[in-house]
Amino acid sequence: MDELVALAKRRGFIFQSSDIYGGLQGIYDYGPLGVELKNNLKAAWWRAMVYERDDVEGLDAAILTNPLVLKYSGHEATFTDPMVDCRSCKSRWRADHLDKPVCPNCGSDDLTEPRPFNLMFKTQVGPVDDGSSFAYLRPETAQAIFTNFKNVVDSTSPKLPFGIAQIGKAFRNEITPRNFIFRVREFEQMELEFFVKPGEDEHWHDTWVAERLKWWGEQGVNENNLELYNVPADELAHYSKATVDVMYRFPHGLEELEGIANRTDFDLGSHTKNQGDYNIQSKVDPNTDSNAKLALQDLQDKTWQVPYVIEPSAGVDRGVLAIMNEAYQVQTLENGSERTVMSFKPHLAPIKVAVLPLKRNHEGIVDKARSIKRELQKLGLGRILFEDTGNIGKGYRRHDEVGTPLCVTVDFQTIEEDDTVTVRDRDTMEQQRVHANELADFVKAQIT
Ligand code: GLY
Repeated sequence: MDELVALAKRRGFIFQSSDIYGGLQGIYDYGPLGVELKNNLKAAWWRAMVYERDDVEGLDAAILTNPLVLKYSGHEATFTDPMVDCRSCKSRWRADHLDKPVCPNCGSDDLTEPRPFNLMFKTQVGPVDDGSSFAYLRPETAQAIFTNFKNVVDSTSPKLPFGIAQIGKAFRNEITPRNFIFRVREFEQMELEFFVKPGEDEHWHDTWVAERLKWWGEQGVNENNLELYNVPADELAHYSKATVDVMYRFPHGLEELEGIANRTDFDLGSHTKNQGDYNIQSKVDPNTDSNAKLALQDLQDKTWQVPYVIEPSAGVDRGVLAIMNEAYQVQTLENGSERTVMSFKPHLAPIKVAVLPLKRNHEGIVDKARSIKRELQKLGLGRILFEDTGNIGKGYRRHDEVGTPLCVTVDFQTIEEDDTVTVRDRDTMEQQRVHANELADFVKAQIT
């Protein structure tokens, strides 16, 4: 983990937020390469969950949330972690994270009894601070999918099964944020709520577990580092009938990368008025303040039904950490030297191609390299970098370390002889000459 944290800072992937003022615990910023990696991971998820399917629509809802949403969802009452205080040094801890009842900070065993600590952040809305006009920062993106259920159904007329996907920030006031970007207070989620007929929920739960495992494999996560965990009944979230966690072997241990929950009709039911009409499984409060009827009518028998929902919910930041951990390699070369390589899958790599002029400030070479960069950029594959440092060896090492799949070098032969460039492969370190006219096709074939 220490090596990953150091590389992340040195090369501009991830920084401690508000660093120049001493940081803010559990909050991180993504730098020039981190934002590319994170966007690429999110784009891969969106492609697989929305574009490559015909039964999922997207959504981008607000972060600030009416407290009633989180009252009826059950989060106000139950979204808590058990907290203990150390009476000696005044530090606070998550009781279920302590190996023994001793303060990890000062060693005292004078701890309070555990008490529930609600993880939701509140903020004031509008100019009057009288305690009545507040909103929550959403603790999960899911609730806005449920509260927009009727809007999406009315505007897209889907048939069951269908899903609504969303990527966005969520906030949890973790008692003890830790392990770099693994447990943080501001984070991003990639969530699909997949609505199904009651009775078909278990089949779809199994299907989504298999789909999600396959997808993580396609992002370069070795299956030997993934394990499924059937969450026992006493650990289930308040809305879940069954949850399977996809666990990943992080540098700090085996922990949850994604949770796939069967939320039944708990949420649509909880936000629906007159729940008694719909034979709903779980009720938070039958006196809901919403006027919504979050149900679907069966076109054949005309009955109204509240769908069940299967929820694959992945953490973007945890995904970035897993992908970086998988990609990180220190190799010993034949000549005894070492190189650090981030062997990202090309579709995730922050920079797809670096175009390097062999000679710095040489007009002909630099112009040619710039024009190649512009042409490759038009392919829409992601970031293509022009880098005029004139030190090709150092350039290759730097691009190995940030995981750039291809480096293209423009030299005297390019401009004076045959219009070919050298293409150097990150993984094999092999170099071959490719004609400039064929470079776009060559790059497209490598970066998919
Ligand atoms: N929506 C599930 C979760 O945030 O854990």
